Amino acid sequence: METPYQNHIDKADFDHVYEPAEDSFLLIDALEKDLEFLKTKKPLLCLEVGSGSGVVITAFGMAFPGTLCFSTDINIKACVMTKSTAQRNNVIVETVNMDLASGFVNNKFDIVLFNPPYVVTDPEECKGNGIEASWAGGVKGREVIDRLLAVIPKILSPSGVFYILLIEENIPNEVIQIMKRHGYIAETVIQRKVRNERQLVLKFYKFANYD
Ligand SMILES: C[S@@+](CC[C@H](N)C(=O)[O-])C[C@H]1O[C@@H](n2cnc3c(N)ncnc32)[C@H](O)[C@@H]1O
Repeated sequence: METPYQNHIDKADFDHVYEPAEDSFLLIDALEKDLEFLKTKKPLLCLEVGSGSGVVITAFGMAFPGTLCFSTDINIKACVMTKSTAQRNNVIVETVNMDLASGFVNNKFDIVLFNPPYVVTDPEECKGNGIEASWAGGVKGREVIDRLLAVIPKILSPSGVFYILLIEENIPNEVIQIMKRHGYIAETVIQRKVRNERQLVLKFYKFANYD
């Protein structure tokens, strides 16, 4: 998969929007690793929750020109940047400023992507919609993550696949158990140690529909 151009972005804009980092690129690497599998899914609709600068959904859109791509972010400036990153790379992404996927409950996406705010912080910190929303994850770094896990069954198509980046502190096994209760199987797609942080990308799908 190609890394999208980002040379249209003014460095100062990253004071307000998450600057792509190792986690962003690990998620792209996970999609690249799964590229042949993803092609077999022939995805019609893809959603990235919390798209930030837009590099992940744009990379996806570049690899899958036939897929209708959507993104959301709670930070309006991230939505604007996602739109411009998509345009810079000749990709169309419908971008919506909303909490998680709250406006999409009747939609069924074939692919859902999430590089969440995963840092363990005081719960009070994860109530904003500015740059702090990029990292502040509250207790176990899981407060925003867990809210999305609860809606995945409503927004993922029966044969859909959900990719999420986590760190060790998020207790990935608990996430796997939560998703198991919703009927999903988990697989680790890729993992990497970045300085002192172990990052991994998990994918979730329903067994009967995995082909
Ligand atoms: C770690 S950053 C990832 C940004 C981008 N996807 C990337 O990989 O570079 C997390 C993103 O999630 C967004 N976010 C946090 N809470 C959110 C929520 N409740 N609903 C939608 N987006 C949210 C943040 O504004 C931020 O852009």
